[in-house]
Amino acid sequence: MLTQAAPAGSSDARFRDAMAAVCSPVAVVTTSDGDHVSGTTVSAFCSLSMDPPMILVSLDNSSRLLAEVRRNRHFGVNVLAADQGALARQFASKDSYKFEGVDFRLSGETPRLTGSAAWVKGILRGAYTDGDHTILIGLVTEADATAAPPLTYYRSHIRHARPGVAARLLTTGTSSRFPRSRVQTDRED
Ligand SMILES: Cc1cc2nc3c(=O)[nH]c(=O)nc-3n(C[C@H](O)[C@H](O)[C@H](O)COP(=O)(O)O)c2cc1C
Repeated sequence: MLTQAAPAGSSDARFRDAMAAVCSPVAVVTTSDGDHVSGTTVSAFCSLSMDPPMILVSLDNSSRLLAEVRRNRHFGVNVLAADQGALARQFASKDSYKFEGVDFRLSGETPRLTGSAAWVKGILRGAYTDGDHTILIGLVTEADATAAPPLTYYRSHIRHARPGVAARLLTTGTSSRFPRSRVQTDRED
């Protein structure tokens, strides 16, 4: 049901609760100037366009990575695999050097973490600030995926995807809207 816009502040908790019910990816966004590498954990990542291929990430205006990407004009998105929960926490810190003990290589100048479920790299095409966040738009120059199940962020917790459930539904579900059985349910077993 649609309700009238509430005065600022009074609906914050309900907005947070509603967004916590949205399942999102967990990714580490990276950049470098060739000398200094930077990265930050994000859940606000999605595709924006297929033609041309573009992605977007949304960063808090106070994020140090945001300033770095604005300077370097490129960024990579490392979609974390189910066994990379420790990296999600490490890159969510405010440490000055977050790559301690992290296995990565440079793709051009963009840090690519070893073992991620997927990798997408983009050239910064635009930035749009509204409220307390800035959307970074990247024109995709590289994309790669593995079969590794991803981490997800749901109800304020980092969770493992359930490969068994996903695999079963991917092969047995049916839908006229999503042929080839791309149907998943929200069941938890
Ligand atoms: C699961 C998870 C998801 C997050 N998603 C975002 C996000 O989408 N955007 C954002 O700006 N910060 C997000 N954060 C918080 C940043 O990772 C955190 O504020 C970090 O310290 C910012 O570092 P920086 O200032 O070096 O960029 C998330 C943190 C976690 C643990």
